Amino acid sequence: MGFDGRSVVVTGGTGHLGATVVRRFLEAGAHVAVPVRDAGKGSELRDGLSGLAGTGTDARLFVAEAQAADLAAMERFVEAVMTRWGRVDALANLAGHFASGPAWDLDLLRQLWEDNFMSVATATATCLRPMRARGYGRIVSVSAYGSLRGGKETAAYAASKNAIVRWTESMAAALKDEGITVNAVLPSTIDHPDNRAAMPKVDPAKWVSPDELASLILFLVSEEASGVTGSAIPVLGRT
Ligand SMILES: NC(=O)c1ccc[n+]([C@@H]2O[C@H](COP(=O)([O-])OP(=O)(O)OC[C@H]3O[C@@H](n4cnc5c(N)ncnc54)[C@H](OP(=O)(O)O)[C@@H]3O)[C@@H](O)[C@H]2O)c1
Repeated sequence: MGFDGRSVVVTGGTGHLGATVVRRFLEAGAHVAVPVRDAGKGSELRDGLSGLAGTGTDARLFVAEAQAADLAAMERFVEAVMTRWGRVDALANLAGHFASGPAWDLDLLRQLWEDNFMSVATATATCLRPMRARGYGRIVSVSAYGSLRGGKETAAYAASKNAIVRWTESMAAALKDEGITVNAVLPSTIDHPDNRAAMPKVDPAKWVSPDELASLILFLVSEEASGVTGSAIPVLGRT
C-alpha cells in the first residue's frame, strides 16, 4: 500500500489515534492535511513527527485551524489543500469524542450529533467535491462498536456514532459508480494513556492498539481496497 504523491485529509489528527494515523500516512509517502481546532495542538503534532513532516517546498504535512463540523472553515481548508497539492485522494474522519448522560438530555444529544456525526458529514462534503471532479476518492470514518446498542447513559454517543454507519451505507450506495468508496470502522476500546488511566484494572493488551487500527484505516483508503465500500468493520482487538 503506497501513498506516494497522494493527498490525504485527516480530521482528529491531534488525538491519540490521529497522531498514529498521521504518522503512518507520512511513512507511507502521503501528503497529509490536518484541520485542527487548537493551533497549539497542531504544533505539538508537527513537533512529534520531526523529520517526517518535511520543510519548505518538501513539506508533506499541512496543518491549519478548521473545526471539522464548520462548513465554511472546512471549505477554506480543502481549498488550501487543493492549492498546495491539487488533489484530495482520501479522507479519514477521526474527530469525535465520548460523553455520557441521560437519554433525555437534549443538549448532550445535540452536542454529540454535531461533534461526532456532523463533523464527519461536513468534512466529507467538502472533500467530496474534488474527489467527484476527479472520479476517485476514499473515505473512512471512525464510528464505535459501542454504537451498535444503546446503554443506560450512552444514548447521545451511540446515536451519533451509529448514524455514521447508516450514513456510510447511503454514501457508498450513492457513490459506487464514481470511483469513490466509503467505509467505517468500529473500534471497541483503543489502547491509549487516557483509557489506561480510566480503566486501570483491565489488561490493555486486549484492546486494539492505535497502530492496529491505523493499519486497517490505511488499507481502506488505499487504491487496493477498491472493492470494499459500504462496510462497517468491528475492530475488537482481543476483547
Ligand atoms: N478511545 C476509544 O477507546 C474509542 C473507541 C471507539 C471509538 N473511538 C473514536 O475514535 C476516534 C479517535 O479517538 P481517540 O481515542 O484518538 O480520541 P482523542 O485522543 O480524544 O482524539 C479525538 C480527536 O478528535 C478531535 N475532536 C474531538 N471533538 C472535536 C470537535 N468537537 N471538533 C473537532 N475536533 C474534535 C480532538 O481534537 P483536540 O485534540 O483539539 O481535542 C482530537 O483530535 C474518535 O472519533 C472516537 O470517538 C475511540
